[in-house]
Amino acid sequence: MAPLTHRLPALADIAGYLHLELPSSDRRADRLKKAADIWDLRRIARRRTPKGPFEYVDGAAERELSLARSRTAYEELSFRPGVLRNVEDITLETTVMGSKLSMPLAIAPTGFTRMMHAEGEVGGSRAAAKAGVAFTLSTMGTATIEEVRQAAPEGAHWFQLYLTKAEGRGLSEDLMRRAKEAGFTALMVTVDCPVTGARHRDTRNGMTFPPQLTWKTFLDASYRPEWWLNFLSTEPLGFANVGGGLKSFSEIGKLFDRTLNFEDLAWLRRNWDGPLLVKGIQTTEDAVRCMDEGMDGVVLSNHGGRQLDRAPVPLYTLPQTREALGEDATILLDTGVMSGADVVAACALGADAVLIGRAYLYGLMAAGAEGVSHALEIFRNEMERALGLMGVDSIHALTPEHVDLDWRTAAREYERARR
Ligand code: GLV
Repeated sequence: MAPLTHRLPALADIAGYLHLELPSSDRRADRLKKAADIWDLRRIARRRTPKGPFEYVDGAAERELSLARSRTAYEELSFRPGVLRNVEDITLETTVMGSKLSMPLAIAPTGFTRMMHAEGEVGGSRAAAKAGVAFTLSTMGTATIEEVRQAAPEGAHWFQLYLTKAEGRGLSEDLMRRAKEAGFTALMVTVDCPVTGARHRDTRNGMTFPPQLTWKTFLDASYRPEWWLNFLSTEPLGFANVGGGLKSFSEIGKLFDRTLNFEDLAWLRRNWDGPLLVKGIQTTEDAVRCMDEGMDGVVLSNHGGRQLDRAPVPLYTLPQTREALGEDATILLDTGVMSGADVVAACALGADAVLIGRAYLYGLMAAGAEGVSHALEIFRNEMERALGLMGVDSIHALTPEHVDLDWRTAAREYERARR
């Protein structure tokens, strides 16, 4: 190896490298600048949010196999790119259930959201509208239907409904009427919670809703002062739309109607004249039955792995469900989506758009509405980059041929073909 030739460092050279920036006064922007992907936002979120709320979001049911497998499905697929294609202009724009979206993404309904960060659903709704994606408000939201809509009247808003036993169907009718009047254009009814999943992390953490001030939480507060200050100086947490104090998810689960069945979909259809989806569908057979009952589509979801453990992986159920339902049905998908490339894979395999729950909440916990905006821009950049590198100039030009669902299977097929 040739020896290095050294020389004396010249001051002029050093001056060229010097970049001694003072920290800016915008602490959120400083924090977000180095978050390159959703996993980075998760790390920041974990630092800034008390353990109970963070793990409520981050965790899943029982051994968390549904979540792990749903994520692994994205990690194990491989893309089949084309080269020498013109990708000068790449478009992610699409229309889903009449809502024009700048990319095939919507924020998933999440409960207790102001417990993750005081800006809660209002912050999420603003960031979604700014990015041109839809925001879905949960029945278990901590901001009212009207507040969420007023926060960003220019945005697309969808409403998620749990059918509760309380007051017959009066409460559900009332929620649907309010959502319609406020300008929510689509409804998704969640059907995967006849009983509630066992979130073991919450049990182990002694998680309560809202968090209690114990010696442990005082200690926790000492290094997460902003969260606690916001929590104690804003409107007390509560279910803004259904009333009543905040209870654990399993307590709330007792209010859900366990008798719900396919015949109830007809009742919903009569009461909602806009796009209507069933969320929590896990098999193609059930998706077909929903369509037979007059639904406009389904959300393939195992509730982020938070209900049945060892549930089907939505991504694997997607191709045959699209084939069975045809092109006109709306198919959304969630669970385990952590990057724009995951969204690209789901769209290639037949999804119209993808819902993000945890990924959105990691952004919110990291830096409020700005953190959500940052998460959405990460998704946008990742989608554009994946499409560009695959030689595809529009989200609508993706086909199942662009994805090998399992690279190990693909490699085995290749080996077999060569024999
Ligand atoms: C609410 O839907 C939850 O999964 O905790």
